[in-house]
Amino acid sequence: MKLETILSLAELPALARRDLRGTTCVVFDILRATSTFVTALHHGAKEIIPVSEIAEAVALHHRQPEILLAGERAGMKIRAAQSGGIDFDFGNSPREFTAEKVRGKTIVSTTTNGTRALRACAAAKTVLAGAFLNLSVTADFLRGEKEILLVCAGTGENAAAEDILAAGALVELLLPRIADRPVFWRTAAIARQTFAELKTDLGAAIGNSENGRQLLAIPELRDDVAFCAQLNVFNLVAEMSADGALRVK
Ligand code: MLT
Repeated sequence: MKLETILSLAELPALARRDLRGTTCVVFDILRATSTFVTALHHGAKEIIPVSEIAEAVALHHRQPEILLAGERAGMKIRAAQSGGIDFDFGNSPREFTAEKVRGKTIVSTTTNGTRALRACAAAKTVLAGAFLNLSVTADFLRGEKEILLVCAGTGENAAAEDILAAGALVELLLPRIADRPVFWRTAAIARQTFAELKTDLGAAIGNSENGRQLLAIPELRDDVAFCAQLNVFNLVAEMSADGALRVK
């Protein structure tokens, strides 16, 4: 098994030049996109469609008005002034995506990094949305895979500690579950080492990150940090299919 990690979106152009047809990508955007998508699917959303641009989301909604709009810029819900006249139904807080609001629904979402990272992996054999919320079940799913690429979405163009921690935690979980000694790429070892050093207080490590501090400073969003730091509370694997929609595997 080959285990590799991409540490930030700055590496996406290189990813676009790679042949991913034999690769299983796991995308981590702990604060908050992939945590939010896993939560929405846990609460019964039919599918989440990640897109890069606000205009793409609005265009899809205009074509299919039953599709709900979700997304953030600078952490805040997208408003009419940003979307050409329509307030989005959701921002990107996992706590907004309750069963009452999302059961059976299709949601299109655009976020700063997470949805771009998912789209960048679209050509891969398998694409999963990973989070601390569903880490162990995701590790179980990966057991038989031969080539795994852990994609940390990061914050802006920077690496995000919370994503690297999640990647490292997944490497740690995978090790006992795989027969042959994995071929570690340097970056996977960095993620594993980072997790080994900070795992005793994940909540604090995530809260101290760049996006963690930003969210903690916004009263209505501060509880998202603790929510996204929960471990293995959802028993589902979230896979993005060839049609670009994330669904429960
Ligand atoms: C992102 O995609 O950049 C993040 O999920 C943004 C956020 O939710 O703060």
